[in-house]
Amino acid sequence: MIDLAAELGGPGLVPVVVIDSAARAAPLADALRSGGLLTVEVTLRTGAALEALRVIAEDPTILAGAGTVLRADQVKAAVAAGARYLVSPGFSPTVVKECEAQGVPCIPGVATATEVQTALEHGIEIVKLFPAAAIGGPGVVRALSAPFPQVRFVPTGGITAASLPDYVEVPSVLAVGGSWMVAPDLLAAGDFERITQLTSEAVATVRRTRE
Ligand code: 3PG
Repeated sequence: MIDLAAELGGPGLVPVVVIDSAARAAPLADALRSGGLLTVEVTLRTGAALEALRVIAEDPTILAGAGTVLRADQVKAAVAAGARYLVSPGFSPTVVKECEAQGVPCIPGVATATEVQTALEHGIEIVKLFPAAAIGGPGVVRALSAPFPQVRFVPTGGITAASLPDYVEVPSVLAVGGSWMVAPDLLAAGDFERITQLTSEAVATVRRTRE
């Protein structure tokens, strides 16, 4: 099993992709790599997602993850397509159990202290905070970190290039997730140059903020 804390915590960013053409998967991976990121979360929200995941997972330089994993059968399909980690918007014991069975780490979503406790009861200490901006932003991460100092958060949902530093500077934030650098309209337009530019700006922001 991969060391999720190291793999995601190093770059501190998880680009969340909604992709509707597998033909864009390889150039997307190239664009992210050029921007300095070697991981991607492909959300299982489109018909092309599994094929796109398969294409990206074939690239040994990229750590491919699957997002929006809601059911056990999606865990199996994503792992078969090469996903090395799985992300859910909420906490599903069924998904978590299937991830364990498949030997693949899972990042469930939480929005409350109750859900953090549920994650801990399942032996999970890395959680996605979703939808981060809508439920109060970095302040929520700080508040949840007080009773749960062992938990590392991946806030996602409504985060922008402008709000990124506010999340990165929270010590319990492992990585920040979001689609702003790989926005569906950029992908649909095949604007990979812009994706590389936004990615490298985000990478630089994380570095600068952590200094
Ligand atoms: C997710 O699934 O993590 C979110 O859709 C990403 O949220 P964002 O598009 O607001 O960054």
